Amino acid sequence: MRFGLYALGLFHVFLHSRGAPLRHQTMKEFNRILVTAALPYANGPVHIGHLAGCYIPADIYVRYQRARKKDILFIGGSDEHGVPITIRAMKEGITPQQVVDKYHALIKKSFEQMFISFDIYSRTSNPVHHETAAGFFRKLYDDHVFEEKETEQYYDETAKTFLADRYITGTCPVCSNPNAFGDQCERCGSSLSPDQLIHPRSTLSDAVPVKRKTRHWYFPLQHYEIFLKEWILNGHTEWKNNVYGQCKSWLDNGLQPRAMTRDSNWGIPVPLPHAEGKVLYVWFDAPIGYISATRELTPKWADYWQQPDTKLVHFIGKDNIVFHCIIFPAMLKAHGHYVLPDNVPANEFLNIEGEKVSTSRNWAVWVHEYLEDFPGCEDVLRYVLCANAPETKDNDFTWKDFQDRNNSELVSIFGNFVNRTFVLMHKLSKGKVPVWHEKIRDEADTELIRQIEHTKITVENLLETYKFRDALYTIMDLARKGNKYLQDKEPWKKAGKETTAAADQEKIDNCLYLCLQLTANLSILINPFLPATSRKMLYMMKVVERMLDWEHAGKIDLLKTGYSLRAPELLFRKIEDEEIKKQMEKLHQNSVKPNTVVETAPPPPEKKPEIRFEDFDKMELRTGMILAAEKVAKTDKLLKLVVDLGFEKRTIVSGIALHFNAEDIIGRQVVVVANLAPRKMKGIESNGMILMAEDANGRLIFVAPDEKIRAGSEVR
Ligand code: MF3
Ligand code: ZN
Repeated sequence: MRFGLYALGLFHVFLHSRGAPLRHQTMKEFNRILVTAALPYANGPVHIGHLAGCYIPADIYVRYQRARKKDILFIGGSDEHGVPITIRAMKEGITPQQVVDKYHALIKKSFEQMFISFDIYSRTSNPVHHETAAGFFRKLYDDHVFEEKETEQYYDETAKTFLADRYITGTCPVCSNPNAFGDQCERCGSSLSPDQLIHPRSTLSDAVPVKRKTRHWYFPLQHYEIFLKEWILNGHTEWKNNVYGQCKSWLDNGLQPRAMTRDSNWGIPVPLPHAEGKVLYVWFDAPIGYISATRELTPKWADYWQQPDTKLVHFIGKDNIVFHCIIFPAMLKAHGHYVLPDNVPANEFLNIEGEKVSTSRNWAVWVHEYLEDFPGCEDVLRYVLCANAPETKDNDFTWKDFQDRNNSELVSIFGNFVNRTFVLMHKLSKGKVPVWHEKIRDEADTELIRQIEHTKITVENLLETYKFRDALYTIMDLARKGNKYLQDKEPWKKAGKETTAAADQEKIDNCLYLCLQLTANLSILINPFLPATSRKMLYMMKVVERMLDWEHAGKIDLLKTGYSLRAPELLFRKIEDEEIKKQMEKLHQNSVKPNTVVETAPPPPEKKPEIRFEDFDKMELRTGMILAAEKVAKTDKLLKLVVDLGFEKRTIVSGIALHFNAEDIIGRQVVVVANLAPRKMKGIESNGMILMAEDANGRLIFVAPDEKIRAGSEVR
């Protein structure tokens, strides 16, 4: 539990949320809300990890606040500067401007089609932005904020450019991985600086880089350490654990000056004399892009950025935390005229089928491709990504789960309830909203009404505290309760006789009346999450958009008695196995296997102590053939194999699932350690081990006889 000091004028409430420690929540009166979503780099399309991490939660929050009639702006745009864009241009043989033009258009369209409702989607190559960012820099410069320093940095003489850390590779000093980057070794996770790499090389030209002197302007982050500690560690104890934790670790480690300029010809020129060939650091200009876009949107931009009663919220992914919680706030503070974020509800990462998204390996689900493959299913993706959002830890997207959530939640629970309600209303109430007979209201009715009221309040609290997943579950739970209510009441049983008794008709009326009011409530509650579904429901209910105003939620007189409604349309369609199979094939076919990483000279191997022939001879090695292979449920790495050893068939569990698809290895010849003591893995007894060769990159290949030989042959 963390305790904090609070500024005067704030009051606090204690919230106890499920699973989370008791914690503080500061409540301040805000008169307007400014929501930003990270500006994606315009050097590639957006994938579903982007949506889940940042854009869908931001959009849910914004739609909810709009429904509450809050004064709110939702700002987005493309981040069009930075080294990756110049590299991409070089590789494709086009200009950086052509790269960003192409991807800005593609990204913007993907967001529109996914109903991400930005008030503006701008771009950092806009003149307004250049002017705003350069002006911001100039103000800090004039206030003597920067420190100017000359340092030596790696320069690629072939490519004629200074090298960003990421573009230098070499051998990791910690684990000897020959392909470590200048900022990090992806094998052992050590964070590095280019100077630590053994045998550095430029990734641009493969040349050995040389050191060159260069001058840059540094932002003295260390001067803001005390302020930041007070503001975050004491003042914002309500921030999400993952965010608060990352900030604390940065602050505990001590902050260093950071260069805010770079040697490059792509970016915003440093607005100083004698600064040719220098541009603003992309992480200096990009967040200012939020300000520029607001300026572009409205002449009242300064109210949103500079009035202390603005609530500023940054939606981002976890790799952006330090920039939005530490560096940008310090810049804003140094400038002096700006509000600071009230919250930065960053999400963790979304993996795909158990593996980290990798754009370079094309291990991703691209939004523009999804939109093509599943037209009309935008809300389904919004649903699955919210239900599975990596809110507290990395999470996994699988196509199977996508299908299950669609078929057994959207179709079977939500869609089914709405559909049954409408069908019954047309059958048993002539398509009109029935009368409510208060005098025969029973316990089940009262309970359902209570649930409707209660759900509204719960969802509100969850959305205000950025718990989008739980909010969605709560709404689905209400739909589930609707189904149960209908199932228990069985209005269809009472009807259908020649003449339905008056008392029975009243019961039917009440049941349908409540189901219809619940449907209307569901359309309001689900609107921030599934806006298209909500609109379909409006159409079926023949009501106007205004009914979606949040203040109407929790009520049971939304649809008036006697009002006639349209025939139902299906809200969701079933997703077939065939469609999922296709997506899995596409993912595997288009992705570059980790196996195909370019080979480089391996580091000297770690040697084992000498053994005697008798030691070797203890092993019984035999050839075998894989007869069957399947993934072990709930693991990423394990395959369960059935191997034919000629004289018997063995079950062997092997940790190779990240390298091979089960179906691809059936029929392969292998070499098995046949006398290895049995071992239980995930509850399956494994009898033996398959021999694999592993190279320095961690790539695995089968060790096998190079001709066909009878299974069970001894290997010596
Ligand atoms: N382009 C960055 C990324 O994709 C995010 C920039 S957010 C902003 O990681 F604040 F700088 F705009
Ligand atoms: Zn390493």
